[in-house]
Amino acid sequence: MSVQSAVRRLTAPDIRARKGGEPIVSLTAYHAHTARLIDPHVDFMLVGDSLGNVMHGLETTIPVTVEMMILQGQAVMRGSKRALVVVDLPFGSYEGSPQQAFATASRVLKETGAGAIKLEGGRRMAETVRFLADRGVPVMGHVGLTPQSINTLGSFRALGRDDESAAIILDDARAISEAGAFAIVLEAISEPLARQITQEVAAPTIGIGGSSACDGQILVLEDMLGLSDRVPRFVKKFANIGPAIGEAVEAYASEVRARSFPAEEHTYAPKKA
Ligand code: KIV
Repeated sequence: MSVQSAVRRLTAPDIRARKGGEPIVSLTAYHAHTARLIDPHVDFMLVGDSLGNVMHGLETTIPVTVEMMILQGQAVMRGSKRALVVVDLPFGSYEGSPQQAFATASRVLKETGAGAIKLEGGRRMAETVRFLADRGVPVMGHVGLTPQSINTLGSFRALGRDDESAAIILDDARAISEAGAFAIVLEAISEPLARQITQEVAAPTIGIGGSSACDGQILVLEDMLGLSDRVPRFVKKFANIGPAIGEAVEAYASEVRARSFPAEEHTYAPKKA
């Protein structure tokens, strides 16, 4: 007997087929409850290694482990039914060799049930992208600002704003698209470069600070909801729920202190004999 869910989940080929079509909508998700809330509205959700910054208060994504990604990947899969779930491979878990990348990617896909992985890097990762894609692992690439390279980049700033750096990023995007990436995240690069990459590569481009020229967009959910202290220029706050949480907790604290919460309607009476 086969057991199938009534809702068909989107796949990496579905996202790949959207090149040049209706814009692809995506957000990060790290928890079952946020995954459930965003599932009806996004085409894919990314369990990004930015969970290190957002959930754990880390300065960079370098300390994030495969175990952290698997735990949150499982939660996001439980909370969602429809959107493709993509899980980031964290720093140090894939760069050593294509074989290391395959071992990590296959573990992530088996233990989470997610439909694809994402890894950072351009031309230097092309051989790995091909190795994975040829072995049944859908790979989303990520070029431009790659936060896992912070120790060699030196700072988080926009790239591709001069001819030399733009040529390197264009070459990176071409290399991983030709290697078989089903989509490519373009982070914090200049608008003309994002447009040129989108026009020239076969894989759909997903912008985060890449302009509306991209085939789709992604933001970190907590950034666009107004829950993060500091956000990059490319973030638009579509809500400001941070202050609303503070107000709710303040009201709760004052009612607890005044003994006005819990009220009768929140209290259990004894069963009638
Ligand atoms: O980890 C993450 O959230 C990401 C997005 C910024 C694309 O990689």
